[in-house]
Amino acid sequence: MAPFHLHTHWLKPLVPSGVAASRSQRRARGGGDAPRTGLLLPIVLFCYFSYYIFLKHLRYYCTYFASSLQNKNIVVFYGSQTGTAEEFSNRLSKDARRYGMKGMAADPEEYDMSELSRLTEIENSLAIFCMATYGEGDPTDNAQEFYEWLQETNNSLDGVNFAVFALGNKTYEHYNATGKFVDKRLAELGASRIFDLGMGDDDGNLEEDFVSWREQFWPAVSEYFGVEATGEDCSIRQYELVVHNDIDVNKVYTGELARLKSFEIQKPPFDSKNPFLAPVATNRKLNKGGTRHLMHLELDISGSKIRYDSGDHVAVYPMNDTSMVNKLGEILGSDLDTVISLNNLDEESNKKHPFPCPTTYRTALTHYLDISNPPRTNVLYEIAQYATDPKDQENLRKMASSSAEGKAMYHSWVQESRRNIVAILEDMPSLQPPIDHLCELLPRLQARYYSIASSAKVHPNSIHICAVVVEYETKTGRTNKGVATNWLKNKVVTDNGNKSSVPMYVRKSQFRLPFKATNPVIMIGPGTGIAPFMGFIQERAWLKQKGKGGGETVLYYGCRHQKEDFLYQEELEEYERSGVLTQLHVAFSRDQEHKVYVQHLLKQNKENLWNLIDSQTAHIYICGDARNMARDVQNTFFEIVEEMGGMTHNQAVDYIKKLMTKGRYSQDVWS
Ligand SMILES: Cc1cc2nc3c(=O)[nH]c(=O)nc-3n(C[C@H](O)[C@H](O)[C@H](O)COP(=O)(O)OP(=O)(O)OC[C@H]3O[C@@H](n4cnc5c(N)ncnc54)[C@H](O)[C@@H]3O)c2cc1C
Ligand SMILES: NC(=O)c1ccc[n+]([C@@H]2O[C@H](COP(=O)([O-])OP(=O)(O)OC[C@H]3O[C@@H](n4cnc5c(N)ncnc54)[C@H](OP(=O)(O)O)[C@@H]3O)[C@@H](O)[C@H]2O)c1
Ligand SMILES: Cc1cc2nc3c(=O)[nH]c(=O)nc-3n(C[C@H](O)[C@H](O)[C@H](O)COP(=O)(O)O)c2cc1C
Repeated sequence: MAPFHLHTHWLKPLVPSGVAASRSQRRARGGGDAPRTGLLLPIVLFCYFSYYIFLKHLRYYCTYFASSLQNKNIVVFYGSQTGTAEEFSNRLSKDARRYGMKGMAADPEEYDMSELSRLTEIENSLAIFCMATYGEGDPTDNAQEFYEWLQETNNSLDGVNFAVFALGNKTYEHYNATGKFVDKRLAELGASRIFDLGMGDDDGNLEEDFVSWREQFWPAVSEYFGVEATGEDCSIRQYELVVHNDIDVNKVYTGELARLKSFEIQKPPFDSKNPFLAPVATNRKLNKGGTRHLMHLELDISGSKIRYDSGDHVAVYPMNDTSMVNKLGEILGSDLDTVISLNNLDEESNKKHPFPCPTTYRTALTHYLDISNPPRTNVLYEIAQYATDPKDQENLRKMASSSAEGKAMYHSWVQESRRNIVAILEDMPSLQPPIDHLCELLPRLQARYYSIASSAKVHPNSIHICAVVVEYETKTGRTNKGVATNWLKNKVVTDNGNKSSVPMYVRKSQFRLPFKATNPVIMIGPGTGIAPFMGFIQERAWLKQKGKGGGETVLYYGCRHQKEDFLYQEELEEYERSGVLTQLHVAFSRDQEHKVYVQHLLKQNKENLWNLIDSQTAHIYICGDARNMARDVQNTFFEIVEEMGGMTHNQAVDYIKKLMTKGRYSQDVWS
């Protein structure tokens, strides 16, 4: 069967990289450059000319891109924040080859999605959507515009073929809301669903959900278009290795995300592609006892023009542990200081390299690649060919297969045992993949988010973090250490006279104090869930000082032991004494025989809470563990509303849902 051809002139990048910042970058920006009135004219003129130049470039890029899409007939759009949906899209676009088709993964933010109906101009074309959900059932930043367009448009998508794989997590209230919406809305607009919506649960086994969906999806595509698989899965390199023996060191990336030397010459605005190197001003242990390490960090943002609001998140780009990187070099027998580029073999692709190149293997493994999470099955499949022991090769292939035995083996040997790539290579000595192929396959190291634990009203020049260091023993007896928290823990305030610094940017959130300071707030944040509330409380204290306060400020905090991990105890008690915190309730879960959690204290104070919520329009905030705590607290609120408001369970659920819609019940939770 001859390959289909995609002549997608409509499918052109709206914002070519390097020409203008993406919407997500714009959104992520904490930097504010509010124009002063006197500067207005020059700014307007500057904007006008920049726009003119931008349009000129855009035309050039559009032409280039339109021609680059020749021969592609499957487009896999991804809505992704932390890279998983993007990875899945890449895998699906690669799969297309087995059916004589040509696929490409595409970021919807870079295309004019309002022209989606023009896919019908291409015979037998297919749009696949891998869509992750965030927040309160929201799309990812890069899918926001597409999502809004889908909501508003009445354009007919008659004849557009599509399929959706949703990525989400069942512990969240709005499970896979974005994927479900996209799937439903495309069908409503007349597009043809060629395969059922796939649902991936990150709390369960997202990889398995995807593999199982994909396994049935391709035969359905094959049948729908009347094409046949051209053969077995085969490993095809996407990037070619170029070794630079004699390169100007100034042209080699050393960890920058986009602009070369951006860490040496720092220029605002700072965002996900251009993080600010914030010096660490404070790094102290918060807990007084116990085996864990809970820490308070202060990042100095003086001079960066970064602005933030209480409730925002700070994103931090960590580095992988040096000893793990060295171990990889040793196992693979590679000189980590070799300067290389991995260049896309598809010259027309708009993704030239898997990470900034040229760079060294050491930099790639330290800054750009995720070497600490258990690898996905596609990585196992691709590296299997390099195992010289047939048994190892068979096991790797089995784990990458969709057989029940293979899935169970992958689940137990890789996921449950938390084997990362180093552990896999150690436990399969016959496996010796070339380092460049491994670098092509490993996913990108992601930024970690932290709820900002300060208020810019009080600390305009610093951003505070409250975090717990992740360290645990695996089933194989290894100690696994969380990448970012262990790296942050070791960030000493002065490092050989130089201040150690952290690449960071601010991501705006919807987690906000009420507009009116007279509104009561009820904050529930056990453990590190206290973080954003330190900012909220500082802000309420600042408002009170300005004579603008007045609303009740209620905190429900929980920790294991009063004497060990009552974080910010002195500060909180002082806020209580000074009347900033009008109520401080602490649940010490392990100081008595039975567990006492925040929700038990909520239940005890149901009259007061009901009065604050129903009569005084209090705002409720929950922060911390998404898996159990947030759900249990929500159920407790259902009970309180049911009992105190004399409602049925369903009425109480509706009552809380209405508060959510009105922005009076907000969650900042993670798992
Ligand atoms: C919006 C948001 C706000 C956040 N705010 C905060 C905050 O204020 N404070 C804070 O401390 N964290 C916060 N987090 C979590 C934070 O982003 C990181 O996920 C966390 O610090 C761990 O990062 P790490 O790189 O150290 O660990 P990683 O290297 O990412 O390792 C963590 C992973 O290890 C695994 N793991 C952890 N413990 C175990 C175990 N016992 N057994 C098996 N596997 C395990 C889990 O898969 C986990 O995802 C927030 C997350 C989000 C999304
Ligand atoms: N992905 C990651 O790597 C990562 C990293 C950090 C934190 N987290 C998440 O963030 C959460 C907070 O971590 P932390 O270390 O700050 O908290 P923590 O100290 O483990 O817990 C804080 C308090 O909450 C209690 N608690 C446990 N289950 C609860 C529930 N269902 N309802 C209400 N309270 C409950 C704990 O009690 P007991 O412990 O005595 O039961 C403890 O008293 C963790 O649970 C974890 O899910 C994830
Ligand atoms: C802060 C946060 C909020 C999330 N909110 C939701 C949600 O509301 N509904 C849902 O189904 N999944 C939610 N998820 C789970 C993600 O959608 C899921 O982990 C997905 O695999 C992420 O894909 P990505 O890596 O491509 O961004 C959330 C995850 C995080 C970290």
